[in-house]
Amino acid sequence: MTKNDKLSPYALDASKLTLRYGDHVVFQNASFHVHQQEIVSITGPNGSGKTTLINAILGEKAIDSGTLEVLGKKPGDANAVLGYVSQNYTENNSEVISVIDMVTLGVNGNRYGLHFTNASEKADAMLALKRVNAVNLAHKRMSTLSGGQRQRVQIAQAIASKPKMLILDEPFANLDIKSTVEIGALLKTIHAKYNITIIIVAHIMEHLRNLVTSQIHIENEVAAYFEDAELMGTHKVQNVEGGGK
Ligand SMILES: Nc1ncnc2c1ncn2[C@@H]1O[C@H](COP(=O)(O)OP(=O)(O)O)[C@@H](O)[C@H]1O
Ligand SMILES: [Mg+2]
Repeated sequence: MTKNDKLSPYALDASKLTLRYGDHVVFQNASFHVHQQEIVSITGPNGSGKTTLINAILGEKAIDSGTLEVLGKKPGDANAVLGYVSQNYTENNSEVISVIDMVTLGVNGNRYGLHFTNASEKADAMLALKRVNAVNLAHKRMSTLSGGQRQRVQIAQAIASKPKMLILDEPFANLDIKSTVEIGALLKTIHAKYNITIIIVAHIMEHLRNLVTSQIHIENEVAAYFEDAELMGTHKVQNVEGGGK
């Protein structure tokens, strides 16, 4: 690969990455390379720094030291090719917006406010709904959907712009077991169909073991990367450069 080649083999490339809020160290000295087309989980207890790492990937949280590249670019610069489902979106149950309009926001770049969608944007949105088996929901209001249905629609919105990487922050947090298994299977299908990188934040590895190809586990100021399936979920933090207590 030459210096001018813009294609990076890595979805995420972190070197001695440290993230802090003021004096509070979230994690320090983390080095990991996540290859493109992996399905990687980011695990760790509540408050360990999973969402903070996602915010750094999106360019919304400043990097305190070290480096982080996202698809070979500075964090934030790759956002146009990222699909993102945020944590806690289900808390807003009063949304009167329709499903199809919600997904269309993903096609036309989340331009909220007055925007007249054209026919091709609507067609892309319908295609995304088809991909998540939710065409029948198109004309329902978001506020009337179950947790599993909302998650499908959020995923449709995130893939509607055909991203290179899909990021989901705690996608299973508010789902029952049945919906969790269904959404897991859906993510596997999307991965197989589009060959994209998928990052799944989850506080436990349960339900993820058969889905992910690698894991970043954050705990006690250490973000450790495991490629070896046998190590995943055991929470052994070793072979990590620096960092930690
Ligand atoms: N904007 C912020 N300012 C200060 N501290 C924050 C902020 N966001 C998160 N934190 C703190 O950083 C730590 C990691 O938070 P977070 O990344 O949300 O954890 P997780 O997603 O793993 O539950 C927590 O101690 C949290 O209180
Ligand atoms: Mg979080």
